[in-house]
Amino acid sequence: MKLNIGCGRRKLAGWVNLDANPAVQPDILAAVPPIPLEDNTVGHLLMESSLEHIPHCKLWSFFDEVERVCKDGAVVEIVVPHYSSVHAHDPLHHTYWHSTSLNAMCINRNSETGERHSHLRLWLDKVELRVLMRTGIGIGSELGRRIGRLVDWPFNRGPVWQQACERLWPFGFDEVWFRARVVKGQR
Ligand SMILES: C[S@@+](CC[C@H](N)C(=O)[O-])C[C@H]1O[C@@H](n2cnc3c(N)ncnc32)[C@H](O)[C@@H]1O
Repeated sequence: MKLNIGCGRRKLAGWVNLDANPAVQPDILAAVPPIPLEDNTVGHLLMESSLEHIPHCKLWSFFDEVERVCKDGAVVEIVVPHYSSVHAHDPLHHTYWHSTSLNAMCINRNSETGERHSHLRLWLDKVELRVLMRTGIGIGSELGRRIGRLVDWPFNRGPVWQQACERLWPFGFDEVWFRARVVKGQR
């Protein structure tokens, strides 16, 4: 199953679209966590502009739920406003994200060497900083996505470079995109 959590009005064809708001008529009406699905049923989990709506005190139980419902090897894709974006600072947003925010919660090259604050079995595959996505150019059109990828390319040439750009880029990034994999086979 492909699960789109916090779908809002952007319900995706071929996905199970979940939202807490009855007005958007989701396939599953629920406020996460918990995620009202059986264990090991999700192969691809997407959250676009919705993780930041989950209160900080519920983040750990939310990620526990993600791990529970996902199959071994499932892809977890998360798009959140970058902390430097004006959109990050809405009153409805509880958490603020940058390119290394998930490092301490996921297994990755840093945590392999011991700096790991989590029991979660999420392997962080890829992180991208995005500049144009919330301006309207990035949303909806394939041309917009291509222009976005071109503009974002210089900022995403590796983690150290990303972190340097986050400190030096004066106008703010719009979004940060994370792709992780669930690795149930190993501890
Ligand atoms: C900014 S909208 C994003 C909608 C869509 N994914 C998009 O990219 O346009 C955030 C959505 O998350 C939903 N949401 C917020 N907290 C939620 C929760 N705890 N459980 C499920 N959905 C939630 C809201 O109802 C809202 O539809």
